[in-house]
Amino acid sequence: VHCLYLVRHGQTEFNVRGRIGGDPPLTAKGRAQAQALAQHMRHKEIDWVFTSTRLRSHETATPLLAERPGAHIMAFKEFNEIWAGDCEGMLYSEIRERMPQVTAGRNANKFSYAYPNGESYALLGERVQRGLRRALFLAGDTPLVIVGHQAINRVLLSLFLRQRSEDVPYIYIPQNQYYHISLTPRRKVFERVPYQDDS
Ligand code: F6P
Repeated sequence: VHCLYLVRHGQTEFNVRGRIGGDPPLTAKGRAQAQALAQHMRHKEIDWVFTSTRLRSHETATPLLAERPGAHIMAFKEFNEIWAGDCEGMLYSEIRERMPQVTAGRNANKFSYAYPNGESYALLGERVQRGLRRALFLAGDTPLVIVGHQAINRVLLSLFLRQRSEDVPYIYIPQNQYYHISLTPRRKVFERVPYQDDS
């Protein structure tokens, strides 16, 4: 039996501006989202919390650990966001203007398109699977949380749901809701749970 809570990190200044990649901290709203998540989960049994090595992921996870002295937290680089290569740190609008071939390439086939010197969704599959295997090995049968990123969480969900690959880069990954995945041999439940109003 596996119980996995798949969370996206809270809001960052990069999210507000439409800037990709980087290692920005949470905004005040992002920190409030992290607090709301911890409050929402306060009665749930959680023994393991996995993050990426990025600040925004770690800051989102921290309040979850506050009242769980026995819980473990571990940062995996396998869960770091898709690497945008030459486009790291750019605004989507800057990419459109200065590197129109990137935008066109992504629009034509977002799953297979790799950023120049960077990654595609297709390439993420292997490392995300490696991270998930390590996380499931450590957590065993106990409930776990993964605090990931937009593209990472799309790929993680697709590992359980077997989406058509061309749909994977468009799965909805909000910052005020998490996916609860509960698997038994006879019952697979995927539930999107809001933990804070998006006001
Ligand atoms: O915008 C936040 C972000 O996590 C970026 O760092 C990343 O490049 C992007 O989302 C992935 O989403 P998409 O593939 O839709 O651009």
